[in-house]
Amino acid sequence: MWDYSDKLKDHFFNPRNVGEVENPDGVGEVGSLACGDALKLTFKLDGKGRIEDAKFKTFGCASAIATSSVLTEMIKGKTLDEAAKITNKDIANYLGGLPEQKMHCSVMGREALEAAIENYRTGGRKKHELEGNIVCTCFGVTDKEIERVVRENNLTTVEEVTNYCKAGGGCGGCKGQIEKLIEKIQGDRVKQPIPPSPRKPAKLTNIQKIQLIQQTINEQIRPALRADGGNIELIDVDGNKVIVAFRGMCAQCQLAEFTMKDVVEAKLREFVSQDLYVEEDKDSAQQPHNHRG
Ligand code: FES
Repeated sequence: MWDYSDKLKDHFFNPRNVGEVENPDGVGEVGSLACGDALKLTFKLDGKGRIEDAKFKTFGCASAIATSSVLTEMIKGKTLDEAAKITNKDIANYLGGLPEQKMHCSVMGREALEAAIENYRTGGRKKHELEGNIVCTCFGVTDKEIERVVRENNLTTVEEVTNYCKAGGGCGGCKGQIEKLIEKIQGDRVKQPIPPSPRKPAKLTNIQKIQLIQQTINEQIRPALRADGGNIELIDVDGNKVIVAFRGMCAQCQLAEFTMKDVVEAKLREFVSQDLYVEEDKDSAQQPHNHRG
């Protein structure tokens, strides 16, 4: 039995926005019945270019239905530029997490959204077209798709790749090629330059300290949180106490306490002062921490 979040179960038992929007502005279709999952997403825009209505039809498991349902809720009210920024991790996080073996459902949702936006913008290609060369013939997955899920989700094993896009989950004949792709991407990561550290003056005035804290947040902390759909804001500095608020996905994340100590506080101590400690300004947080249920 899969360990499904309450939110996932809710969207599976009570899926929202099932069907097809009448006279849609955008249509995206991904997957195939032969591969076990298929999703058709349709949307309509309002006069201001925001998604007014979105519906889905899915063939697949509980996770496929729940991710499609939640995706329609996530994109309503967004502009296409905003919707296009939604990643498969955002979809999984919004559901309170997905079992690893079901992450491919979140990838399918993101691909359907991209296909629907492209259909609106270009007027063609309702159906998600494969880019790159087929690596996994069992599931029709290309090298480009594999590279993308590996990069976006920091995957390191063939098994993880199978969970995220199914490649390798059939005859297994493509596993060697998947391993090579992972190695190539890991090699690219090692070559990436490390961002320069802000310089630490010997003795900081209050103004210098606050500026350095802000600089460290901007350059060292925010980019990492943004990669997971979150953000952070500096609220105040009181002596050695730094008060921050999490935004976006971070505000809903059950790992916020961990992020606070192991990412935010550690970076501020490294780049500003060993004496700093961080507290969250819960009053200004947008969402409660625990987003299950
Ligand atoms: S070719 Fe990829 S599992 Fe068969």
